[in-house]
Amino acid sequence: MPVTVVVGAQWGDEGKAKVIDLLAAEHSHVVRYQGGHNAGHTVVVGSERYALQLIPSGVLYPHIIPVIGNGVVVDLPTLFKELDTLESRGISCAKLRVSSQAHLIFPWHQSLDALYEAGRGDDRIGTTLKGIGPAYADKARRIGLRAGEVLNPAAFRKAVGAMAEMQNRDIVALGGEPLDVSAIVEQFVELGARLAPYVCDTVELLHEALDRDDALLLEGAQATFLDLDHGTYPFVTSSNPTAGGACVGTGIGPRYLTRIVGITKAYCTRVGSGPFPTELTDELGDKLVEIGHEFGTVTGRRRRTGWLDVVMLRKAVRLNSLTEIALTKLDVLDTFPEVKVCTEYGAAGEPVYAVLPGWLTDLGAVTDVDLLPPQAREFVSLVEREVGVPVRIVGTGAERDSYVIWS
Ligand code: IMP
Repeated sequence: MPVTVVVGAQWGDEGKAKVIDLLAAEHSHVVRYQGGHNAGHTVVVGSERYALQLIPSGVLYPHIIPVIGNGVVVDLPTLFKELDTLESRGISCAKLRVSSQAHLIFPWHQSLDALYEAGRGDDRIGTTLKGIGPAYADKARRIGLRAGEVLNPAAFRKAVGAMAEMQNRDIVALGGEPLDVSAIVEQFVELGARLAPYVCDTVELLHEALDRDDALLLEGAQATFLDLDHGTYPFVTSSNPTAGGACVGTGIGPRYLTRIVGITKAYCTRVGSGPFPTELTDELGDKLVEIGHEFGTVTGRRRRTGWLDVVMLRKAVRLNSLTEIALTKLDVLDTFPEVKVCTEYGAAGEPVYAVLPGWLTDLGAVTDVDLLPPQAREFVSLVEREVGVPVRIVGTGAERDSYVIWS
């Protein structure tokens, strides 16, 4: 059975959750493979809006087994807050499983994230301050605490205490306030006991599912150009959102990946610092922010906006072996008299644009490909031609059903 990977093809916030929600119907498990609660995934069902940070987007379907894979860094207060919110709204999280190998985020990671950012001054990355970078750094230093450790509460208590003392020394050395060690120990021993029933060997769980021919959906957070290796370093996140990261972050080998869906908006956004060739700093950029509601779901920060860049998308195809594209938020361009797409960079690295007439039609209600105005069809065709892989899904609004199947 196929394993589908959903990966952001730009700098994040492409509308991955909506596409995952759509594809989840035909899968049995939805597995997060990297990142943590720096992600903000929103799914709109009727009048209900679900904002998810850690729990896989497929949780809204009763048949789905949501899995937090080994590549994720898990903030327990956020996990249980999210779980309680979902359950209070009638969504069961009983089937959630968390990899025993997933690393945990602690308050010291957040303190250090803020101290490192402050120390960079004008060169700051603009992180979400959720402690993601320091947690992955501890993983790479081989000193991180993992979810499986909560299964031995006495040893976990000791390990959290010792780690808190050690991290406090770094915090103080950087000019920060030391954390209250015993308060953290008590809080996390309690959270650990709550986590224990959800912890398992998810590699085993997923391979048993593959042996049964179940269809798995691997959910990326952040995106290709925030990838630690392939993104616009150092203005990146500290994990690998690209499709290779889906293998590492779940323990599923590459030969199982058959469908790799790259998600792109019909324009570009970026939150935080770093290069952005097609950025619009004029009123057109403001218009994209306003119509597209381009404010971060996690931090509330205003996103930077610009025209679609297919040079980036071509690179995303290579980096991820994308088999198809889902083009989201096409409706945000409804009121633009002309729309631009960057098809190459000039000698000085400046964007060179194809200019297309706008469709000046409300796409909000369009769910049938034949009802897309010709100008909108030409926009999608141009993307398909320029990128070189088929566009399958085109998003036409925020609602769960607002999309057309293009091919
Ligand atoms: P970090 O992941 O918090 O370390 O932040 C590193 C960079 O990734 C910053 O530019 C963030 O704004 C960006 N980033 C992290 N998570 C997301 C996301 O889910 N969407 C968009 N940008 C993100």
